Amino acid sequence: MTDTTNTTSHREPVTVLGLGLMGRALAAAFLEAGHPTTVWNRTPDKATDLVAGGAVLAPSAADAIRAASLVVVCLSDTAAVRDALAPHRADLAGRTLVNLTSGTSDEARELATWSDDHLDGAIMAIPESIGRPEAFLLFSGSRAAFDRHRDSLGRLGNATFFGEDPGLASLYDVALLGVMWGTLNAFLHGAALLGAAKVDATAFAPFANQWIGSVTGFVDAYAAQIDRGDYQAEDAALETHLATMKYLVRESAAAGVDTDWPARLQALTERAIDAGHAGASYASLVEVFRGRA
Ligand SMILES: NC(=O)c1ccc[n+]([C@@H]2O[C@H](COP(=O)([O-])OP(=O)(O)OC[C@H]3O[C@@H](n4cnc5c(N)ncnc54)[C@H](OP(=O)(O)O)[C@@H]3O)[C@@H](O)[C@H]2O)c1
Repeated sequence: MTDTTNTTSHREPVTVLGLGLMGRALAAAFLEAGHPTTVWNRTPDKATDLVAGGAVLAPSAADAIRAASLVVVCLSDTAAVRDALAPHRADLAGRTLVNLTSGTSDEARELATWSDDHLDGAIMAIPESIGRPEAFLLFSGSRAAFDRHRDSLGRLGNATFFGEDPGLASLYDVALLGVMWGTLNAFLHGAALLGAAKVDATAFAPFANQWIGSVTGFVDAYAAQIDRGDYQAEDAALETHLATMKYLVRESAAAGVDTDWPARLQALTERAIDAGHAGASYASLVEVFRGRA
C-alpha cells in the first residue's frame, strides 16, 4: 500500500457514507491511518465504535458530504446509492465521489455523471482484510481524481487504476468474482465427489490448492493465445479434455453426486468441438463464451 509520509498530521479529511460491514471497515482503516473521518449511516447506531475511535458522525448525508473533498460511498447496491445521494447531488460539486458499492458497469457509468470528479471502485477483499496488503481495490473513472487521492485510497489496500471508462472497475469485479465462483464450485464439486468415498474435504484441500497453483500457469499461457487468436494445442487438445470430462460426469453420477456442473463443462466443450476446435487448445473455449461457437 502507498504511504508516502511518516506523519499522519496532514492526512486529507475523508467521508464514508454507509456503515455496513464493509463501510465500517473502510472508515476504520481511514481512521487508523490518521485521516480525519466523517461518517454517515441511515441507521446511526452502527457508528458507535467508529465515533469512540475518533470519527465524527454527521447528522445527515448532506452534512457528511460537505465535511470532506473525498467522499466514499459503500451501500448495499446502486439503488441504495441513488436513494441516499440523489437529493444531495448539488453538494457533490467540487468533490471526488468514490463509489465502492458493487454494481454493473452501466450503473457505474450512470453514477459517474453525478460528480465532476468521479471514481468507481470495486473491493476485492473481505472487511477484515481492509487496510492490509492482501486487500486490493480496483478503480476507474477520473484519472486526475485517482492521482490526487491515490495515497488516501491506498490506505484501504493496494489500489489499481484501469482507465477513464468508469465501468471498467465493475467489469473487472464481476469477471474476477466469476473466477472465484468457478474455482470454488469446482472445489466443492470435487469435495462432494471425494466425500462420497469418505475422503474428508480437508484431505482434498492441499491437493486442490496445489492444482489451482498449476492452473494459474495455464491462465498466463492461454491469455497470450486468446490475444493472438491462435489456439494451438501445446499441452492437450480439446478432444482429450472432453474424454476426461466424461469420466467426471460418470464418476459423479455413480457416486450420487450432482452432475449439473460437470455436464455443463462437457456441453460447453462439445460446442467448441462442433465449431471445429477439436484439435485446438483449451483456450479455444473462449469462442463459445464469446458467442461465436
Ligand atoms: N462485505 C464484503 O465482504 C464485501 C466485499 C466486497 C464488496 N462488498 C460490497 O460493499 C457493499 C456493501 O456491503 P456490506 O457487506 O457493507 O453490506 P451491508 O453490511 O449489508 O451494509 C449495507 C449498507 O447499505 C445501507 N443501505 C442499504 N439500503 C440503503 C438505502 N436505501 N439508503 C441508505 N443506506 C442504505 C445500509 O444502511 P443500514 O445500516 O441503515 O441498513 C448499510 O450501511 C456492497 O455493494 C457489497 O457488494 C462487500
